[in-house]
Amino acid sequence: MRLALGLKEPGLVPTMGALHEGHLSLIRRSAAENSRTVVSIFVNPLQFNDARDLETYPRTFDRDIQLAEEAGADIIFAPTPALLYPEGFGTAVTVAGLADRWEGAVRPGHFTGVTTVVSKLFNIVDPANAYFGEKDYQQLAIIRRMHADLNWFGEIIGCPTVRDHDGLALSSRNSRLSVEQRQIAPIVPRTLFTLRDRANAGDHNAASVIEHGLALLAQEPSIEVDYLAIVDPETLEPVKEILPGSRALIAVKLGPIRLIDNLALLEPPQ
Ligand code: PAJ
Repeated sequence: MRLALGLKEPGLVPTMGALHEGHLSLIRRSAAENSRTVVSIFVNPLQFNDARDLETYPRTFDRDIQLAEEAGADIIFAPTPALLYPEGFGTAVTVAGLADRWEGAVRPGHFTGVTTVVSKLFNIVDPANAYFGEKDYQQLAIIRRMHADLNWFGEIIGCPTVRDHDGLALSSRNSRLSVEQRQIAPIVPRTLFTLRDRANAGDHNAASVIEHGLALLAQEPSIEVDYLAIVDPETLEPVKEILPGSRALIAVKLGPIRLIDNLALLEPPQ
């Protein structure tokens, strides 16, 4: 299947809907940089390893269409699961290595679901530019790797994380936080900002900076830390010494809800 719409080199913004300002920033950027923008809305069953998470994923389709159009979308592509995965569907796209650690270790098969559906979207839409958020930093790194490895046409464009007034990264899953959990959640970005401040103040020892972050998180008993790591921005391997571009990655559980976030600790050289 191809979108035979006579589009010349569109921009593509893949989403799972429940659109918020983070998604809209990607759509606005695509609309500014491309003559046409395609926004896909598809809650991709392949990337959910928890049936309940798929079932309860927020769905706000009518509102999404309105918001996407207001932000500059020309075409909304919202296929059904049966259209993308007809009976007999048997192909998977996997990025070895990068997809196995961090989120991949906690959510087996998740990134194969992501790279398989994104490959299909690239083939269907044939974009000149495809926009992804830094919010999902590992996803962005994996998609960059896949795009280079498979000689895809066009460019992958990473866009900065949009945050709420208290620093919490916007996420469709935030709507599932209770009022109390929502008040606790900003400890996640606060920890990242503290790590960045320490690194900028001259502590470039990753282990010592992480220890400081973990101590901060330990003050909040309802937070369970999955990982807090400082990694190379491309390989996502842990580093010993914090260098310009090094990235802090964090994942925590707050009740049943997982929050992920990340931050560049020392700005890369211009
Ligand atoms: P979804 O979670 O809907 O996110 C769609 C895009 O919006 C992703 O590129 C994500 O990184 C970006 N995004 C989400 N929150 C953001 C924020 N606060 N600031 C900036 N960008 C943000 O990620 C997916 O869907 C799926 O895995 C997908 C790539 C669509 C494949 O199914």
